[in-house]
Amino acid sequence: KTIHVLNGPNLNLLGQREPAIYGHQTLADIETLCRKAAGDTHDVRFRQSNWEGQIVDWIHEARGSACGIVINPAALTHSSIAILDALTAFDGPVIEVHLSQVHRREAFRHHSYVSQRADGVIAGLGPQGYAAAIRHIVALTGD
Ligand code: DQA
Repeated sequence: KTIHVLNGPNLNLLGQREPAIYGHQTLADIETLCRKAAGDTHDVRFRQSNWEGQIVDWIHEARGSACGIVINPAALTHSSIAILDALTAFDGPVIEVHLSQVHRREAFRHHSYVSQRADGVIAGLGPQGYAAAIRHIVALTGD
């Protein structure tokens, strides 16, 4: 079984980008954390794009091949109906993750289109939020 982990725009800069908000860990560090959390029962397909359409294509690809999706849509969280619609066409569990506690930040970060479809939302736990989301999908989808 494979869990797809999708990351949106600017997350390739993690570790360098606004460390006071997003911390010093890189996206590669988060990938390692996800693989550990998945254990040996589940594989992890870990990807990042700065392009909305690429993320839509990856969600389509997850149909039929992923047992669940963990997604940090980054800024697209707050703007993308296309990502919401693509996730709605996916049948398995979807967990939305944000490194920062978006509800304690600017008002424009308080609304998420993706939350309309997400089965769970994790915000403010930093990289550990990804691990928690993975463990949840592992528990749901068995071995
Ligand atoms: C983010 C929060 C978003 O508001 C922001 O645009 C990001 C990252 C987070 O992980 O905290 O790029 O999704």
